[in-house]
Amino acid sequence: DKYRIAVIVGSLRKDSINRQLARALEGMAPQDFLLTQVRIDDLPLYNQDDEAEPADAVRRLKTEVARAQGVLFITPEYNRSVPGVLKNAIDHASRPYGQSVWAGKPAGVIGVSTGAPGTCMAQQHLRNVLAYLDMPTLGQPEAFIQAREGTFTEDGQIGEASRQFVQGWLDKYAAWVRRFAQL
Ligand code: FNR
Repeated sequence: DKYRIAVIVGSLRKDSINRQLARALEGMAPQDFLLTQVRIDDLPLYNQDDEAEPADAVRRLKTEVARAQGVLFITPEYNRSVPGVLKNAIDHASRPYGQSVWAGKPAGVIGVSTGAPGTCMAQQHLRNVLAYLDMPTLGQPEAFIQAREGTFTEDGQIGEASRQFVQGWLDKYAAWVRRFAQL
């Protein structure tokens, strides 16, 4: 059996560099890990009036997160915070009150941006939310990646300069998950 990690990418665009990072990480995961992207692009905007009868996409999100042994958030930074689409997904799966699927799931936070901040401020905001949701979140190492020439190779791998760093980060996250979940 494998540790199943629900991967949530905070960008919906087709050529997202964060989705590229997610794909690269899928291929770098330890043998006993399976990283699977969870869709958030078809979720409705959260509306508390819909809680009693959630959309199929909301049910699916909650089921996939509930089944996972950990959650990996891979997000861009929008205006010094997390994109609304990511917060929307987090809000959906935290409800109804008392039925959040996030609690206790070991989380990892990573992101890539075109700007020098490398998503650090978005990650700090996200950590605040995850703390409230009772998700034990890997503290170190932090991973703030600025996309530059060669950050990704033609075939979608992490480029030479960052590969070892990203692999080390992923291995630490895997060790973090193993502390909280048994296969
Ligand atoms: C950005 N970008 C950006 N970058 C950054 O480092 N800090 C920021 O606060 C912002 N703010 C921001 C707001 C909005 C609305 C957009 C569309 C973009 C730039 C961002 O890093 C860049 O567009 C990335 O390519 C977005 O990630 P994806 O979609 O490629 O994964």
